[in-house]
Amino acid sequence: AIGPVADLVIANKRISPDGFERSAVLAGGTFPGVVIKGRKGDRFRLNVIDSLTDNTMLRSTSIHWHGIHQQGSSWADGSASVTQCPIAANDSFVYDFKATAQAGTYWYHSHLSTQYCDGLRGAFIVYDPNDPYKLLYDVDDESTIITLADWYHEVALSGGGLPLTAASTLINGKGRYIDGPATPLAVVNVKRFKRYRFRIIAMSCDPAFTFAIDKHQLLVIEADGEYTTPLLVDSLQIFAGQRYSVIMLAGEPVGNYWIRSDPDFRAHPGFDNGRNLAILRYAGAPVADPTTQYVTKKPLKESSLHALFNPVAPGKPWKGGADVVLNIAHGFDFNSFHYTMNGAPFIPPTVPVMLQILSGARSAQDLLPPGSVYTLPPNKVIELSLPGTGVELGGPHPFHLHGHTFSVVRSGDSTKYNYLNPVRRDTVNTGLADGNATIRFVTDNAGPWFLHCHIDWHLELGLAVVFAEDTRRIAQADPPAAWDRLCPKYDSLTPDQL
Ligand code: C2O
Repeated sequence: AIGPVADLVIANKRISPDGFERSAVLAGGTFPGVVIKGRKGDRFRLNVIDSLTDNTMLRSTSIHWHGIHQQGSSWADGSASVTQCPIAANDSFVYDFKATAQAGTYWYHSHLSTQYCDGLRGAFIVYDPNDPYKLLYDVDDESTIITLADWYHEVALSGGGLPLTAASTLINGKGRYIDGPATPLAVVNVKRFKRYRFRIIAMSCDPAFTFAIDKHQLLVIEADGEYTTPLLVDSLQIFAGQRYSVIMLAGEPVGNYWIRSDPDFRAHPGFDNGRNLAILRYAGAPVADPTTQYVTKKPLKESSLHALFNPVAPGKPWKGGADVVLNIAHGFDFNSFHYTMNGAPFIPPTVPVMLQILSGARSAQDLLPPGSVYTLPPNKVIELSLPGTGVELGGPHPFHLHGHTFSVVRSGDSTKYNYLNPVRRDTVNTGLADGNATIRFVTDNAGPWFLHCHIDWHLELGLAVVFAEDTRRIAQADPPAAWDRLCPKYDSLTPDQL
């Protein structure tokens, strides 16, 4: 692991996490990337060094710290085309930000095209010295981070922008593909009667995973960096971009138990020949595969999750009871073969939205891409609904908002509204074709914030908008040291060369 002040080298390397060797884009030389650790309140200074050399993949990069609000440092959010230009090969960029009031389970990933599908994804944990649940568990360290990822045998660009089909699911960077070799599975070691805080991260390009540990119940205490009231479940579905902390008591007889991560589509669901599995091994158990069976009686329902602190949603307790009410439907345009939001596909602008604002653009009509940028006034309650259009388009779509956590007043798994004690998080499942989710948040953080489907293939096909929050303040902010580094070649190049 690395601490809050560190170099993060992005380089190519050939790896074979599921027995099939390919070139990958790695952070710190491993898949998943090196764990970044800090404590609440820490100032992070992460120097990203781009050493990419493989021309079959993108050689520039940009890193997003998923879930970190970037309060007062929106320039460090790392989304190429929104907050900065890509970092060029052989160049570096220092992300300097504070985890001011946040603690929990986060992750980082490339936010340039579909580059993270080629490997650039890792865990980012902010530990909380005042964790209200501290007394409920004994172990919370690197061994209790469980990453779930889909893995591809082709490079992301080979699909020409179209979704690829994952070959395998990697749990902590290990997995097996159909008809592939019986490569080693990940092992999570526990001691009997100890209580573990597992931090489960869906660093997925596409599928949602149904996660379970045979014979063990999981007490959910955190969703996306927000404490929840404790909820005991047998399994949980976790969508691309989402995280949960769960407490598990190793209270079963000493032995081996399957850890399961079943993808919902595209990555061949099911558990044959060790696919989608890892092993929970008690100290003293033989080194052998488990023989346990899958039983889930109580899956997690997001609508049953509640925020632990200040749970009331901002605004009035009825539909539309907010200062700004937005309804942005997602659809698909078969002519341009792009996803759309309220009719507009997000086509990455050559000049990042941040730079457009710094150059004087203030209103939605002036900001590019056309129809994709919404300006939001400061200090208002926003209510946003994200309905489908009745046509099944590769959902359910998990939408992620940068710069904020939001109250999920209507979950994708429910038709009920909850203003009293909804869960707060940063990535929400919006359900299937006729689904919808409604979220609320307060515009207390100036910045150009991406809102997009976290199925990376869908983002690449335009399923995104930008909320330009408090554009005046963005433009007035004192230029940080890195201001002119956002697009180092901005002055010397014409916009189409950026
Ligand atoms: Cu996890 Cu816009 O990202």
